[in-house]
Amino acid sequence: MLVAGSTFAAPITIKFSHVVAENTPKGQAANKFKDLVAERLAGKVVVEVFPNSQLFGDNKVLEAMLLGDVQIGAPSLSKFSRYTKKLQIYDLPFLFKDMNAVDTFQQSADGQELLKSLEKKGLVGLGYLHNGMKQLSASKLLKVPADANGLKFRIMSSEVLEAQFHAVNANPLKKPFSEVFTLLQTRAIDGQENTWSNIYSKKFFEVQPYITESNHGVLDYMVVTSKEFWYGLPEDIRAEVKTALDEAILYGNQVAAQKGAEDRQKIIDSKRSEVITLDDAERAQWVQAMKPVWKQFEKEIGKELIDAAYASNK
Ligand code: SIN
Repeated sequence: MLVAGSTFAAPITIKFSHVVAENTPKGQAANKFKDLVAERLAGKVVVEVFPNSQLFGDNKVLEAMLLGDVQIGAPSLSKFSRYTKKLQIYDLPFLFKDMNAVDTFQQSADGQELLKSLEKKGLVGLGYLHNGMKQLSASKLLKVPADANGLKFRIMSSEVLEAQFHAVNANPLKKPFSEVFTLLQTRAIDGQENTWSNIYSKKFFEVQPYITESNHGVLDYMVVTSKEFWYGLPEDIRAEVKTALDEAILYGNQVAAQKGAEDRQKIIDSKRSEVITLDDAERAQWVQAMKPVWKQFEKEIGKELIDAAYASNK
């Protein structure tokens, strides 16, 4: 059966592909979206969720979306650099002091405008979804930037993150999320940066003896779809799907706030990894080493945008 006014056969299938575990903010938000759609659009729309890079990994999901092989994804904001340079703002080290500042900026006119930065490439930003602040895990205790000298860190596919690790004389390696555990376990790399929920759910803490609570950057997501799919949906269905997605994002954001604290504690309780805190002087050294990265990317991102984001810390 064709849905009135469209070329879609009913029910319309929305494949939601992501790379993290189900017991994470993104995993929970995706499942919530599936449940809400099942409740409200039964017989009209079906959401299928593919976690853990089951369907597409980091490097393929956006391409697959443009080809119509997947309809919704929520890659980390660090993984869009092939499509726009503007989102690099979210990778600048020590730009946001906490998730409240991130949220304030994302909800501002500037933050909302960034959701449109992919439109020329055929993608539509449907909203931001939180994970949390990033921590540094390593096979070696990291207190000051000099401790990172010469170490190999896995990074997401971002030039800003590359520059951030070069700034402390470390060696960054761009690798997909699905490979991180094995790279750490086999000591092919020395460390990585991630949120508490990713470090916990993917068991990085079991193969990394130290985690420095650096809160040096943010790992958040943009929920995206393709223009072709989104504007091809009948208007009433698109509106219902968007409402369900907005509610799922709100739910995921609550999970993010809760899980950040809970998973940090579970890691401490496991005694597999020591959580290292920084005093003000140590933290100031990391800020001093990494902050020059802002200047390096100022032209591509825009100074005014960086200033606006920084102002959200007030
Ligand atoms: C994710 O949270 O989606 C993955 C983050 C990463 O690649 O480190």
